[in-house]
Amino acid sequence: MESSNTQNNTYAKGLEGVIAAETEIGFVDGQEGRLVYRGYDISVLSENSNYEEISYLLNFGKLPNRKQMTEYLEQMRANSEVPQDTYDLIQTYGKKAHPMVTLRTVISNLASYDPRESDSSIENQKRIAISIIAKMPAIVGAIHRTILGKDILKSRSELSYAGSFLYYALGRNPDPVETKIMDTALMLHADHGMNASTFSALVTISTLADIYSATTSAISTLKGPLHGGANERALKMIMDIGSPEKAGPYLEAMVARKEKIMGFGHRVYKVYDPRAKILKKYASYISEKSDKKSIFETANKVEEIMINKLGEKGIFPNVDFYSGMIYYSMGLTPEIFTPIFALGRISGWTARSLEYLQNNKLFRPKALYVGERGPKTYISIQERQ
Ligand code: SDX
Repeated sequence: MESSNTQNNTYAKGLEGVIAAETEIGFVDGQEGRLVYRGYDISVLSENSNYEEISYLLNFGKLPNRKQMTEYLEQMRANSEVPQDTYDLIQTYGKKAHPMVTLRTVISNLASYDPRESDSSIENQKRIAISIIAKMPAIVGAIHRTILGKDILKSRSELSYAGSFLYYALGRNPDPVETKIMDTALMLHADHGMNASTFSALVTISTLADIYSATTSAISTLKGPLHGGANERALKMIMDIGSPEKAGPYLEAMVARKEKIMGFGHRVYKVYDPRAKILKKYASYISEKSDKKSIFETANKVEEIMINKLGEKGIFPNVDFYSGMIYYSMGLTPEIFTPIFALGRISGWTARSLEYLQNNKLFRPKALYVGERGPKTYISIQERQ
């Protein structure tokens, strides 16, 4: 029974279609294929803005003026230094843990250096939000270098958010084009309605826990293949297919086995994900530039086949289908793709947590009990069969 109404309770498995909160931060139009951050269409923002501006817009409600932007960048720089213990923890986890395991541990661990982590006042939680956002490029970059067996690079705060991540992750100065592409990818990942990881963050903050806890919940939730984990798997599937000619039989077999094709489908979008449209353009450009054109051609064929096969069911490419090949073309390893998703989404998680905290209501839904009503007689273990 997927949904029903009992004694004015609503049952909807996975809360499908249920509105759980009000927000002014972002809007996903699943029928029109639009994504809006505080009234600005993401297609306009991705052309004209940058991740730092978007982070301010989401968290503080409007695009910053020059003075506000300067102050925000100064706050980010002042908070970008990562404790040495954090780097030690990243190296302890090394290659043996998936980078999302390392990331959630490290973000949670940041709270242990913060004597005011439990002060649930809005101002203090805003301070924590900025502190975490500012440290993410160095942390995700250090995790990438560590899984490659390379040394961790220290602070280069004169670079932009996207540029500094690429420096920390690749150990070289990124060129302006790849910085713009990464910056756009991070903007596109910054916020997306009541997605599972954002919902996790809100459930956590609704208990008056703190932003460290809320973002740790969100990172843990993002890890799953049905959510942020799809970008890594989508690229691995495309590379496993190997060429456009092999896409048909490969997909037929997957669909016959009722396997979900990673990077396709969405709970809200029943049309092409507007983020995938933008990312596809960059994927085409950067895969050609980095001599990985065959990967893009295979992906394009997968898209064509999938839309022919499942388009009428509202199944189209989502944000995770093209993002991986962009990162791979830059020299980033697939295991770091989902932490890169978190690098973008961190501003959405913090913004929505701060917004919810200002008009808080503890999340506590019900479950429809379908077990035995009893009362049953207790039988001691000696008597039990
Ligand atoms: C993200 O919520 C967000 O906003 C998330 C996100 C964000 O920015 O935060 O946009 C990021 O998580 C994108 C999605 C990444 N995940 C994947 O690419 C994994 C593959 N996608 C599917 O698992 C699926 O499409 C979901 C999980 C994304 C959405 O699934 P729903 O809404 O729970 O729908 P469903 O699984 O019940 O599918 C409905 C039907 C089923 O067929 P029937 O049983 O009705 O015959 O559509 C089919 C499904 O089998 N279907 C797919 C499919 N997705 C849905 N069939 C094959 N391949 C797919 N990818």
